[in-house]
Amino acid sequence: MKLSHKLLNNIIEITAKSAVACYPYIGKNEKILADKASTDVMRKELNNLNIRGKVVIGEGELDEAPMLYIGEKLGSGLGPEIDIAVDPVEGTNFVAKNLPGSMSVIAISEKGNLFNAPETYMAKIATGDHVPSETLDLDFDVEKNINNYAEAAKKKNNDITVCILNRPRHKYLISELNRLNVNIKLITDGDVLGALLVSNKKFKVDIFMGIGGGPEGVIAASALKTLNCKFQGRFLFNSKDEIDRAKKMGIHDLSKKYEINEIVKGESIFCATGITSSDLMSGIIKKNDKFVTETILTHNKPVLQTVKKEISIT
Ligand code: FBP
Repeated sequence: MKLSHKLLNNIIEITAKSAVACYPYIGKNEKILADKASTDVMRKELNNLNIRGKVVIGEGELDEAPMLYIGEKLGSGLGPEIDIAVDPVEGTNFVAKNLPGSMSVIAISEKGNLFNAPETYMAKIATGDHVPSETLDLDFDVEKNINNYAEAAKKKNNDITVCILNRPRHKYLISELNRLNVNIKLITDGDVLGALLVSNKKFKVDIFMGIGGGPEGVIAASALKTLNCKFQGRFLFNSKDEIDRAKKMGIHDLSKKYEINEIVKGESIFCATGITSSDLMSGIIKKNDKFVTETILTHNKPVLQTVKKEISIT
């Protein structure tokens, strides 16, 4: 089975509608309501599709999320069997504070091809398609990764930019990067976008590294894989509860380092519609009673494509 062009168009329409659903909450300091508005629309629209879909990355598990929970079945029950990863609002703080970088995201694959990620943190490292796969590795220390990258990309440390979430847990990583005279792009949230910045030289980010959400890691990997970029991830567990949940999902080697081909197998579709603007796409623009949306997508070709759509709310 191939993921069809029709399905791709359906998914673009759905992330666009889900992004528009939280437009009223931009800058309203209501991140939960914003997430709920987008989640409701995404769920309703996915259920209208002729698919046999299953949520593998969602808003949590059944006991903690009323909808789009991991394992939830979506669609009419007719049509292709697909795995679905959803992030109705990636960057809820950005929506709440009207800051750049929020988006509504769906990634899909054929059944069994998207990693079933637990709701834990993940150590991640990513770079573009211009250096060999073995250049960066989660098992190398920061200095070795930077030295390898500098050699492979023929750059001086001073010309290398690393994107990283601004978190206390990254204090050592940041101090090492400072010591190595590397440029740092610190982001306050939104590490799906942060990881995607390595996909094109025009975004001026060489490497993405650090610890962020595991589900966000799988979603980013689905786009990066189509773009021939490099990515590794390793789940991190902070409690017995997280370990038990991971085991229930079939993860037994808790310290395993996952390569991108183990996280996303075969073909996938990734669609992200901007809610507020970012380096990758513009946010929603309201024009009278219509909303102009911009969606970035990856499918089959190693290029980030952009689609504009007008959405009317009925
Ligand atoms: P939400 O949109 O769900 O709030 O996630 C934003 C985010 O910044 C992710 O992009 C990132 O993976 C995660 O939060 C990092 O988690 P934490 O804020 O706990 O460091």
